[in-house]
Amino acid sequence: MAKELDLDWANLKFGYMPTDYNVRCYFRNGEWGEIEVSSSDTINMHMAATCLHYGQEAFEGLKAYRCKDGHIRVFRPEENAARLQSTCRGILMPELPTEKFVEMVKKVVLLNERFVPPYESGATLYVRPLLIGTSAQVGVHPATEYLFIIFVTPVGPYFKGGFATNNYVIARDHDRSAPLGTGIYKVGGNYAASLQANKWAHDQGYACEFYLDAKEKKYIDECGAANFFGIKNNTYVTPLSTSILPSITNKSLMQLAEDLGLKVERRQIPEEELETFEEAGACGTAAVISPIGEIDDPEIGKKYVIAKNGKPGPVSEKLYKKLIAIQYGEEPDTHNWVTIVK
Ligand code: PLP
Ligand code: COI
Repeated sequence: MAKELDLDWANLKFGYMPTDYNVRCYFRNGEWGEIEVSSSDTINMHMAATCLHYGQEAFEGLKAYRCKDGHIRVFRPEENAARLQSTCRGILMPELPTEKFVEMVKKVVLLNERFVPPYESGATLYVRPLLIGTSAQVGVHPATEYLFIIFVTPVGPYFKGGFATNNYVIARDHDRSAPLGTGIYKVGGNYAASLQANKWAHDQGYACEFYLDAKEKKYIDECGAANFFGIKNNTYVTPLSTSILPSITNKSLMQLAEDLGLKVERRQIPEEELETFEEAGACGTAAVISPIGEIDDPEIGKKYVIAKNGKPGPVSEKLYKKLIAIQYGEEPDTHNWVTIVK
């Protein structure tokens, strides 16, 4: 029996901590192999592997929750499997079947059960699937062999204060992704492209960088590693863009907004429209909902103050509570979003 863990759960950062096991599956000779369990947190691979040279790698992110009723739940893992398959088509990697993905998620969570943070600690178990091209290429071509790994690590809030307002800064001098590029896929290259802007934003005390569309620098794209939504006139508005990641949290919030009687609009959002929102938020697995206080655009000398009193708005709070109540099994799972691991 695994030893009880004595961690300072309530003060965990969003960072890596070693756990007991990870699960792996190799793609060789045109097919996926058996699921393997490893207790090593390193991998051994060819120095000419395509993931190292040509960015042939994709990742995912989801969370496992220890719930009041004693169960451990994960949220919409089939959606992460589907998005990984879409990324695979995008950068020519073999698609991992959904069933295998979900089976591996459940397995790695169970194997590391003692790392699933206690209920109400504010922490969760972050699940990180990773798919990499491992065989050698020197010409720019896809690999013939791949490794799919899922590791887990307990995490605290991604943005300061959890459900509290944060400020963002528009990074006009940087593009995260191009309109017909890889922004819709969860590939490492997009995050490499964001590192400078992210540092620039943090150095000035902002929670995160905020992107406009790369072509016209006119429309809202996303907030670092989270999607954007704005609320006004009982409407949930979120960008329609070919250069942002299709967020599973955002997709869920659109549904919940509709369930709560809001109108939902997915369309281009011109930057000036920021002035008109009653509330806004950044949403994602890591961020959950991080309410937006203010968005600054220093290059054109504009400041959009959204949370006038510095506090999260009522609609964002309702959406947040509804989402986490479903994730923790405290409200009926009417959309069939939750998988019980144990
Ligand atoms: N946008 C980017 C660039 C991200 O990395 C993420 C995180 O996965 C999101 C949005 C939010 O997506 P999801 O809600 O599926 O976690
Ligand atoms: C997530 O929300 O899962 C993310 O991908 C954020 C991550 C890049 C830290």
